[in-house]
Amino acid sequence: MNAVVKAEEEDAELDLGWLQQLGEWGMKASPGKNGLSLADIQVGTYGEAPEHSDNLTGRPRGAGKRPDAFRVGGYEIRDKQDVWLENAALLYEEAQNRQWSSATDIPWETIKPLPDDVEQAQCQLATFLTEVEFVAGDVPAKWIAKTTPDYYEPRMTLLAQIMDESRHMDVFRKRALANGGGLLARSGGTAGIVGSIDMSRDFTEMSSRLHISGEGAVLSIFRMGELMAYNEAEKRIYRLCAQDEARHVAFGVMHMRYIADTAPERKEEIHCYLDESERNLLAGQQNPAAQQTASSEALAILLGGGQANFDEGYRKLLAIRRRQINEYMQRVKSAGFGERFENGRANPELKKYAQMAA
Ligand SMILES: [Fe+2]
Ligand SMILES: [Fe+2]
Repeated sequence: MNAVVKAEEEDAELDLGWLQQLGEWGMKASPGKNGLSLADIQVGTYGEAPEHSDNLTGRPRGAGKRPDAFRVGGYEIRDKQDVWLENAALLYEEAQNRQWSSATDIPWETIKPLPDDVEQAQCQLATFLTEVEFVAGDVPAKWIAKTTPDYYEPRMTLLAQIMDESRHMDVFRKRALANGGGLLARSGGTAGIVGSIDMSRDFTEMSSRLHISGEGAVLSIFRMGELMAYNEAEKRIYRLCAQDEARHVAFGVMHMRYIADTAPERKEEIHCYLDESERNLLAGQQNPAAQQTASSEALAILLGGGQANFDEGYRKLLAIRRRQINEYMQRVKSAGFGERFENGRANPELKKYAQMAA
């Protein structure tokens, strides 16, 4: 060893002051049947998310404080009820376990040349979905950095959602370009409910619009994907996207349930968000062509099997719209806000359409 370096090392004194600033010590988390999950490491005080967080420094939850740490965030979300849900750790692990690749998990070779009208409709739908998936990733992303690190479970679940949405964005873009077509004009469908998602000033307002209404409606479409797929690749795309989308919707349902249970004084406010969602849902029922004209027509052509069978396709589209209402109502009930369907608050038309779907 160089003599100068050796002399300096001998001079260096260890500062073990950091040992006095430990988080809770002596913790031992054990793997469960699915490995060492986030749920398994909720041990001791590490498992306790505070009702209110004063953490503005990016300190990991449970770590010792450092008085000289810089403030790194002006976190708007520092009250648990504003972002919390009970099962975020499970949703996060599920998201990790069920990642897929749009490059290699879709049998792209099964896409064969299609009649022009069908290919154009498919490309219009793919354009619309690429646009929708962009919003679904972009909007929650803004909220992550506004949330205290003490609520890392919902933060990380939203991060996983953004990875999912990135893949959805690319898989529909790939479909548009995979069979001699391309992107068509953007749909304009993001001007209504989708646009309002981005104008939300509160996380729960955003979640009700994005997770419950927007992604819920998209999930119902993906679940009917078999009816509008022309090859194994498209079927697989819808199936895998539906699996991801179901997790995103579950986030919203569970967050809303947490509010219903812990902050009932906010229920009236949430009902107002749902009033808005239902107006949009019903507008789509009463005149689907008035909403997202291009994507509705594209869906009807795909469902009917071509432009010549548009009327048949349109009837199937109405069935999907009814299914959207039915599933929306189930979700709202599951979230703890089902009283609106009993006390006359919800539009009675909703029940009518839901029954038609049953
Ligand atoms: Fe998505
Ligand atoms: Fe989503």
